[in-house]
Amino acid sequence: MSDETIHHGLDGVIVDTTAISKVMPEINSLVYRGYPVQELAEHCRFEEVAWLIWNGELPSAAQLAEFQKSERSQRDISKDLLAVIHKTPRTAHPMDALRTAVSFLGMEDAELEKKHDAATNLKRSVAMLAKIPTMVAAFYRFRKGQEFIPPRKDIGFAENFFHMVFGKVPASEVVKAFDVSLVLYAEHGFNASTFTTRVITSSLSDIYSAVVGGIGSLKGPLHGGANEAVMHLLLEVGEPSRAKDWMLTALREKRVVMGFGHRVYKNGDSRVPTMTKYMRQMADFTGNKKWLEISDILAATMIEQKNIHPNLDFPSGPAYYMMGFDIDMFTPFFVMARITGWTAHIMEQQANNRLIRPLSKYTGAGERRVVKLEQRK
Ligand code: COA
Repeated sequence: MSDETIHHGLDGVIVDTTAISKVMPEINSLVYRGYPVQELAEHCRFEEVAWLIWNGELPSAAQLAEFQKSERSQRDISKDLLAVIHKTPRTAHPMDALRTAVSFLGMEDAELEKKHDAATNLKRSVAMLAKIPTMVAAFYRFRKGQEFIPPRKDIGFAENFFHMVFGKVPASEVVKAFDVSLVLYAEHGFNASTFTTRVITSSLSDIYSAVVGGIGSLKGPLHGGANEAVMHLLLEVGEPSRAKDWMLTALREKRVVMGFGHRVYKNGDSRVPTMTKYMRQMADFTGNKKWLEISDILAATMIEQKNIHPNLDFPSGPAYYMMGFDIDMFTPFFVMARITGWTAHIMEQQANNRLIRPLSKYTGAGERRVVKLEQRK
């Protein structure tokens, strides 16, 4: 191939095929295995969507029951892994703590070097889905000096996470808003972290290494880290009366405003209306409308001034904040959801693998001769 065009940031490049999800910016839509994500968020629990992403179809009631039984039975983490989490510096970012915990989980897999087949990797994917919330919650409580709360096996995925973090399951409105966020975060084409997992998989590395790489990529504020940055931004604005001026100043100073813009969607993120609806419900539920009012003014000003629309992180950040979570825990929630999409892509990459190895155009020094150390000035 002799095309010398440089696609900076791989912008507009189609790297491979996928049957998992389709992002359709022209009609502002996203489908997982053909189903619009908005419909999935309204009608399905996250566990159903996880099954769909992995298996290509929505589960029957019997399949869902079996899957939930399996996921619930695997929520415990080993004593050694819990000890690793409890040795993590309390000041560490939760994404770094999670990256290390998933890496350790991989080393606990005795068959890791022997088995890479799809059936084994699907089992590993379900195990990661079940255990990652336990890791996240364990670190959450550890750094606050609180006792570890073991997972419950008799409640759903979202409910159990609240139980492990706060020791209780909140009202169904709060659980639903959290569950919806998981559905919306589950999968999104060849985004940076998913592509990272595929690149790692393409060298025939293992599924845990790929997920660890995905966590590293997701942490960045241009990707998953934006949901945390959005909440810091809202706190900086502080009051609805300051919101418009804050945005105008940010734009005048050419600041990148977190939670706005998207590489693929240029006329709005398909997931935003659904998450905004549930963010509004959180504001109603808590009786605190401040973050909603600030968000509305910021979004209206950005659209009016630059026609740049909010992305999913814009409503999810304040929604998580209103649920009572610490801000730096927001990106790990994204991992709890995206583990489904990442692992589906890892298995898809394995099924039709070709080493991902792009070219670069060299712009460094011209060829020159090495001068021996004693002769160098
Ligand atoms: N705040 C201010 N300006 C923004 C912006 C934002 N959040 N997002 C895009 N723009 C501006 C760019 O500066 C650029 O302006 P220019 O033409 O004057 O240079 C223009 O909009 C086009 O954007 P572009 O740089 O082509 O977007 P991209 O595809 O490279 O970037 C993001 C996409 C997501 C990296 C970018 O929008 C961004 O940094 N957003 C904030 C982080 C975020 O919320 N990430 C989560 C994504 S889901």
